[in-house]
Amino acid sequence: MAQATLRWEGSRLIIIDQTLLPGEFKEIQLDTAEQVWEAIKSLRVRGAPAIGVCAAFGVLVGVREKNPKDVESLLAAVHEVSDYLATSRPTAVNLFWALDRMRAVAGANASTSSADVLFQRLEQEALTILEEDRRTCRLIGEHGASLIADGAGVLTHCNAGGLATADYGTALAVMFRAHESGRTFHVFADETRPLLQGARLTAWELMNAGIDVTLICDNTAAQVMREGRVQLVIVGADRIAANGDAANKIGTYNVALIAKAHEVPFYVAAPFSTFDLSLDSGDQIPIELRGDDEVTNGFGKRTAPDNVKVYSPAFDVTPSELIAGIITERGILRPPFRESIAAMAQEAGVSV
Ligand code: MRU
Repeated sequence: MAQATLRWEGSRLIIIDQTLLPGEFKEIQLDTAEQVWEAIKSLRVRGAPAIGVCAAFGVLVGVREKNPKDVESLLAAVHEVSDYLATSRPTAVNLFWALDRMRAVAGANASTSSADVLFQRLEQEALTILEEDRRTCRLIGEHGASLIADGAGVLTHCNAGGLATADYGTALAVMFRAHESGRTFHVFADETRPLLQGARLTAWELMNAGIDVTLICDNTAAQVMREGRVQLVIVGADRIAANGDAANKIGTYNVALIAKAHEVPFYVAAPFSTFDLSLDSGDQIPIELRGDDEVTNGFGKRTAPDNVKVYSPAFDVTPSELIAGIITERGILRPPFRESIAAMAQEAGVSV
C-alpha cells in the first residue's frame, strides 16, 4: 500500500480512517487515549495486528496526555492507559499482546533515572512492534505464496490486508507475493456483512495492487465453489487457541464448512502474536458482540423493522479440523495442530 495504515510521525499518531474507505481516503490524528480507544472500537483502525500496533502507540499518546513528571507517575500512567485501551475490543489477542509488551518494557526500566528516558524506551518498543509486524507480514507472504497455483481461484473473507496490519497483510500478503512473483490467479472477495470489510477494503486493496478480484455476497460462496471456481480459501485470524481453533470475522466458519463440503483446502494466515496458547480450545475465545444498528441501519439506511431483536457476534470460531494449514512468519503449521503449534512455540521461545 502506498500509504501506511498508521504511522508515528514526530510523536503524532496518524491513522487512515478505514470507516470512510473506499469513498474517501482520509488520515486522522489521535491525540488522546480516548480518541485511540474510540478509533479501535469504531473500526477506524481494525484487523488484529493493526489494532495491536495502534494500541502500543496509544499507550504513548495516553501517557503523554497525563504529563507525568517522574518515573513513578509515568509507570502508573502506562498501566492505567493500557488497562483502559484493553477494554476497547475483546477478541483480537494482538491488542493484549502489544499492551503486555509495553507494560513489560515499563517494568524492566522502572529503575531508570528520568521519565524522559523511560518514555523514549516505550517509544522504541512501539516502533519495534510496528517494524516487526511489517517484517512478519512479508514472511507470511513468502511462506504462503506457493500455495496459489497458476490459474487458481482463491476465496477470502473480511479484510486481512495491508489495512489490517502495519503493512502488506496476512491472507492478502500471500496473494500480493504470488502476484509479484508473476502468478496469474483470481480472487473472490466475500463482501462480509455487516460492516463490509471485504467489499470496502479487500476489493479496494486487491484492485489497487492489480490483482483480478470479483466481489461476491457472503451467501454466494457455496455457489462459486460448486461451480468449481475456487481451489483455495485463505483468511486471517483474530485469535488462535493452542489446538488450532481460529477466531476470525463472523462468517468465516460458514466458509470453512462450505470449503470442506467441496474439498477446497482452507488456510488461515496469521502472525505468531495472534496465537493465544493460554487457551486450550476456541471455546474459550471471547467473542465481541456488536451493536444492533450495524445490522438494522448499516451505512445510514434502515433495513429492518424498528425494535426487531438482533444478535450480532463480530467473530466466529473455525474448528481446527476444518483447517488445512496455518501460514505464519515461521512457516506453515500442519495438523495435528496442538503438536505443531507447541513445537513452533518452543522454537520461538514462547512458553506454552
Ligand atoms: O472487525 P475487524 O474488521 O477488526 O475484523 C478483522 C478480521 O476479522 C480479520 O480477518 C483479522 O483481524 C485478521 S487481520 C490480518
